[in-house]
Amino acid sequence: MLFGEIKTRRPIRWGMVGGGRGAQVGYSHRSAALRDNSFQLLAGAFDIDPEAGKAFGQTLLVSPERCYADYQTLFAEEAKRADGIEAVTIATPNNTHYAITRAALLAGLHVICEKPLCFTVAEAKELRDLAAQQNRLICVTYGYAGHQMIRQARAMIAQGDLGEIRIVQMSFAHGFHSEPVELANPSTRWRVNPEVAGPSYVLGDLGTHPLYLSEVMLPQLQIKKLLCSRQSFVKSRAPLEDNAFVMMEYDTGAMASMWISAVNAGSMHQQKVRVVGSKASLEWWDEHPNQLRYEIQGEPARVIERGMGYLYPEAQVDDRVGGGHPEGYFEAWSNLYYRFAMAIEAMDNGNPDLIDELCIPTAEAGYEGVRWVENCVRSADQGGVWVDYQ
Ligand code: NAI
Repeated sequence: MLFGEIKTRRPIRWGMVGGGRGAQVGYSHRSAALRDNSFQLLAGAFDIDPEAGKAFGQTLLVSPERCYADYQTLFAEEAKRADGIEAVTIATPNNTHYAITRAALLAGLHVICEKPLCFTVAEAKELRDLAAQQNRLICVTYGYAGHQMIRQARAMIAQGDLGEIRIVQMSFAHGFHSEPVELANPSTRWRVNPEVAGPSYVLGDLGTHPLYLSEVMLPQLQIKKLLCSRQSFVKSRAPLEDNAFVMMEYDTGAMASMWISAVNAGSMHQQKVRVVGSKASLEWWDEHPNQLRYEIQGEPARVIERGMGYLYPEAQVDDRVGGGHPEGYFEAWSNLYYRFAMAIEAMDNGNPDLIDELCIPTAEAGYEGVRWVENCVRSADQGGVWVDYQ
């Protein structure tokens, strides 16, 4: 159980690039990082508009002289200070992630970057290698990976509660973009512009989330081949897809499918991971994150609840309130962020082995997301054919 106690020696000195007023995801980062004093927000370049960014930073109680016009100035000026930032979060549109992450690493900062980490596998490898050379950490915010029920699913599968794993069925299929809402909404507009969004829309924006959850639950499975078909039901979005279907074969012979959509009219999120084993299945749904369905063949289905003593120990350590009360999105993010702080401290103390135990999305997870999108696009653009996973 968490009681708000700090998990590191002191809060990590922290800055942000992006996440300004009106941005979709900026507040999720701040609310997670500032909870439990894991991080202290001291500086930022919060907005593409320098004046708007400076004004916004001050409303977050950042000193005026540490609200910078752009990320280059942020990194250069903070490096001169004895109390300069040690880590930065990058919450800007996709096409900026590679350059800003690279610059941050070169400035000696630990990086928490939004997904996708970059556009190509070559860039992802370069960033991963640069982080290793600089002895800095890259973390990627697949937020729900911090939820206790994802840890419970991972433990159940590892303990053999499902038997041999046969099928993984995933979806992230909402309906919010069933109409061309991008005409009025700037946060959606860049998502359907390949120059800003990258080689995909929903595959990268949505699909990488359940993909990472499945990697947490099923670390033993490696994708061997996949087939992807993608569509632009709102025609003006082509060549980027607003809907896609992916089939995957793992090296064990287990199979997976994923439906990814922004045009599933009427649906809120539909982010689900169902894992089917030879004895039983489990299913997690982000709209009801505190419940895990556990279905043993031949028995009535069970609903496993967060906050209960019958859970595996790793699914109990992050409870902030007892069972029955809802914990969800914000708590999952906070769980990731306190672990990011612990990982940063471990790295700074020359103890990187601890990072594996923290079960957090690092550069490797960022790389895997970019790699999966690249393989999906390659398959789809050949007409939806099976391709070997590269
Ligand atoms: P947005 O368009 O709503 O906000 C972007 C923010 O970045 C704005 O404040 C803008 O002024 C600022 N910005 C843009 N370029 C900048 C630059 N060069 N320097 C400083 N600030 C700059 O975008 P949204 O939806 O918040 O997405 C940001 C990133 O977060 C994207 O990569 C997206 O894929 C990711 N995201 C991740 C989510 C998750 O669950 N992990 C959820 C939503 C978005």
